[in-house]
Amino acid sequence: PETGSLSIVVLGASGDLAKKKTFPALFHLYLQGFLPPDEVHIFGYARTKISDDELRNRLRGYLVPKKGASPQQLEDVEKFLQLIKYVSGSYDSEDGFRLLDKEISEHEYLKNSVEGLSRRLFYLALPPSVYPSVCKMIKTCCMNKSDLGGWTRVVVEKPFGKDLESAEELSTEIGKLFEEPQIYRIDHYLGKELVQNLLVLRFANRFFLPLWNRDNIDNVQIVFREDFGTDGRGGYFDQYGIIRDIIQNHLLQVLCLVAMEKPVSLRPEHIRDEKVKVLESVLPINDDEVVLGQYEGYKDDPTVPDESNTPTFATVVLRIHNERWEGVPFILKAGKALNSRKAEIRVQFKDVPGDIFKCKKQGRNECVIRLQPSEAIYMKLTVKQPGLEMSTVQSELDLSYGQRYQGVTIPEAYERLILDTIRGDQQHFVRRDELKASWQIFTPLLHRIDEGEFKPLPYKPGSRGPAEADQLLEKAGYVQTHGYIWIPPTL
Ligand code: BG6
Repeated sequence: PETGSLSIVVLGASGDLAKKKTFPALFHLYLQGFLPPDEVHIFGYARTKISDDELRNRLRGYLVPKKGASPQQLEDVEKFLQLIKYVSGSYDSEDGFRLLDKEISEHEYLKNSVEGLSRRLFYLALPPSVYPSVCKMIKTCCMNKSDLGGWTRVVVEKPFGKDLESAEELSTEIGKLFEEPQIYRIDHYLGKELVQNLLVLRFANRFFLPLWNRDNIDNVQIVFREDFGTDGRGGYFDQYGIIRDIIQNHLLQVLCLVAMEKPVSLRPEHIRDEKVKVLESVLPINDDEVVLGQYEGYKDDPTVPDESNTPTFATVVLRIHNERWEGVPFILKAGKALNSRKAEIRVQFKDVPGDIFKCKKQGRNECVIRLQPSEAIYMKLTVKQPGLEMSTVQSELDLSYGQRYQGVTIPEAYERLILDTIRGDQQHFVRRDELKASWQIFTPLLHRIDEGEFKPLPYKPGSRGPAEADQLLEKAGYVQTHGYIWIPPTL
């Protein structure tokens, strides 16, 4: 592994994302020894004029365990906070960034005794409107000093644009300043344990190899549900809507991993090549295969305009035009303010041919990958009902992580992805052509929604969403299993 000084700069340090995700992820990496204090320094950068200690005070509450922190835990938090320095400045003028560079260089000078490597990681926890100017400032003022060796990398968060054109514009602007290997477009779903498991599950198991295709699979659902509304984020959310917030990025990335062919190897470029092929094979979305919803009360949020047409719920069927998937609907569904919180992939198989057990009554085979909560992979199947009768029942083979991997802490998505950026592994990051292809799929629909041509249906908060979405699901071929429910095992 590389050694030498490592400077991690969190831009937008006092924002929500930084406080809730970026700094806690850095803290966990620190606790596990991935950020050795003799090499690492962390810089917070933002416009607000506050002192180092004020930033530390703001962050502390997000790092200290909520209940019953031990003296050791409190001490760890304090030690970590001491690694953080704050620099204030604007996002579009050189003064602040020159100051930042000075601070980084001083730290490098102090820590860089041996081989003098200079590693600089810039994490943009910022709205995309300032990406181009911030990238320009980094490029002008803060690059690693070449005579020391090392690298400069930038991590950018979604939303990467609002449609194909704006995304391409953003990519071009950033592309003028940094090479693709320096740009890490983060999609935190790619850091989730069960999303990362998809490759292994699909390509390291004989079980799945022959079944994973149109001959056996009837339909695939990729579902994201939240049981709360936009909760104070209405202003941001209303400009984007559920398709841009969840479907075009998180769910589509998952779709790629479910649908792609086996990559030549695990090299990032090989994996991303296959993902792009899937995206490029997606057919234009058919209007009859879209249901949009907006929960009642969404517009009560003072930051949301009264006439908002923004969907907080969407079901969209995608069709992949290739040899493996022709005719198999991929149903992407996401909603806020629904009756439950979960994310899962549900692969439903076709009916058993020449059925002698009336299996139809029991329901179809399904392979469900529960991303969260209660991470699990379970396979629904028909078995003999235990007892004297020769009757059948729906049951499951269940790999529930909480039970199977007791005592193992599943790392947070951000933690894993930040570690990847330090290690220079882009496997779980979105490449420019991938981003472009993903916008290509949704842009026509998004434009029509923006222009008010496609209106969301109202639904009750705490419900399943509009009833039309369930009808669409049925029309697409999904058959619900009645009388069966998977219950995560209790420990
Ligand atoms: C974010 C969205 O990207 O993902 C949020 O902007 C959403 O609206 C969040 O709540 C969900 O992430 P997770 O990891 O809780 O499923």
